[in-house]
Amino acid sequence: PVLVVDYGAQYAQLIARRVREAQVYSEVVPHDTSVADIARRDPAAIVLSGGPSSVYADGAPQVDPELFNAGIPVFGICYGFQAMTSALGGTVEHTGIREYGRTELDITGDGGTLHAELPGHHPVWMSHGDSVSKAPEGFAVTAGTKDTPVAAFESVERRLAGVQYHPEVVHSPHGQEVLRRFLHEIAGVRPQWTTASIVDDTVAAIREQIGDRRAICALSGGVDSAVAAALVHRAIGDQLTCVFVDHGLLRSGERAQVERDFVAATGVRLVTIDAVGRFLDALSGVTDPEEKRKIIGREFIRVFEQAARDLQAEAGAAGEQIDFLVQGTLYPDVVESGGGTGAANIKSHHNVGGLPDDLQFELVEPLRALFKDEVRRVGLELGLPETIVHRQPFPGPGLGIRIIGEVTAERLATLRAADSIAREELTAAGLDRDIWQCPVVLLADVRSVGVQGDGRTYGHPVVLRPVSSEDAMTADWTRLPYDVLERISTRITNEVSDVNRVTLDVTSKPPGTIEWE
Ligand code: XMP
Repeated sequence: PVLVVDYGAQYAQLIARRVREAQVYSEVVPHDTSVADIARRDPAAIVLSGGPSSVYADGAPQVDPELFNAGIPVFGICYGFQAMTSALGGTVEHTGIREYGRTELDITGDGGTLHAELPGHHPVWMSHGDSVSKAPEGFAVTAGTKDTPVAAFESVERRLAGVQYHPEVVHSPHGQEVLRRFLHEIAGVRPQWTTASIVDDTVAAIREQIGDRRAICALSGGVDSAVAAALVHRAIGDQLTCVFVDHGLLRSGERAQVERDFVAATGVRLVTIDAVGRFLDALSGVTDPEEKRKIIGREFIRVFEQAARDLQAEAGAAGEQIDFLVQGTLYPDVVESGGGTGAANIKSHHNVGGLPDDLQFELVEPLRALFKDEVRRVGLELGLPETIVHRQPFPGPGLGIRIIGEVTAERLATLRAADSIAREELTAAGLDRDIWQCPVVLLADVRSVGVQGDGRTYGHPVVLRPVSSEDAMTADWTRLPYDVLERISTRITNEVSDVNRVTLDVTSKPPGTIEWE
């Protein structure tokens, strides 16, 4: 792999993704990983990420100069560029000049290998207080800015290079090309990480792990569990059984999407458990958001557990014990939980969070090395329909946390109708790819006066919550075109009885969360 050394900025994962976009497999490692441990992984190259510290600050993470004698190609970015400079005998200074944001980069001479054939002046994204004032001995300086004479250097012979700016962010329009040049032309790494190779390698690894034994997978209707199941099915066919729990908190058409579209695309064996009544009973009288979440999570586990035991009993009678549980854990979850292995890493918000230990399944996590965009590409490669692969995120507790107040069958029907109209209109306007998701929230305990036809109404409001986001950690409200909002509003108030008002949530995250509960 290419190892991205994380100096504590939020950029390491993004860099790892960009490396993969250059078709090279990458992983993130903490900055205190020793040179010996790094060398043991036999990396094709190393990228030192940006970080918040000054190289000269007390306790600032440093780069062991030994790293540069290990014969491994190294690319330094921002803080990594400065740490590299000081480790190799160049000079980093606190110049008192901060560069932050969009900055013009001036290419020096022919631009070297990193910047060859790029425009002589182009914008890059900067974020630093310290600057490199003198490159290490033997390095060619290939770019600078008004305030930073050394903004890039390279030694093609030693396969070492670095840049002061952030090539990984979209605000550096040529950044991906520079990263690609480092990887392919300076480090000499071959671009082999393609969607087809991911599928082949993962399928082989799953076959190796499961052999001729059996597995089950809980489908949520979301992208991750669908792609995980499709991969495992490709590997072991009917040794896999999928379980789909219908808790009645789904949006319109979602059960059909799983039962019909997913099965048609994969041929997977699917068991649907109809648990609608059970969930409604458990939620009866409950209005507290955390309590709702706990109840839904608990009931989900109980229903799934029972289904697993039933399947286990059937399989056991036929002498075919089920040993494996498939989980759609993604690489960001693995990095964020410390990169360890095993069940302890399953996040509590994961779709099948906290399965009881006494189920005694071994985990199969085919997406453990993948980022979300790779998961989607793998899904398409496996022939899953766009409706599943590009589905917007939907919370595990479903519509249960989009009804403010008690969840009842009637309120669910109202919300489902309003949500379905909003989704239809957003899709018709071609906006699906521009918004991250658009929850529709029913304020079930609020009533307001309206007038429809000649009569007074006293109905409930719904809230539209369209958001734009990269990762759901932060979000901005999406400026939807007024004509689209108008169509959604008119249709909801005309077609959904009980709703006489449509409102728009214009809060970013923070301070608001995306969901209302
Ligand atoms: P918030 O509301 O915390 O949501 O800003 C961030 C993202 O997570 C989704 N979400 C969940 N997903 N189980 C999930 O699988 C959950 O319990 C859950 N709660 C929120 C939410 O839709 C948004 O994309």
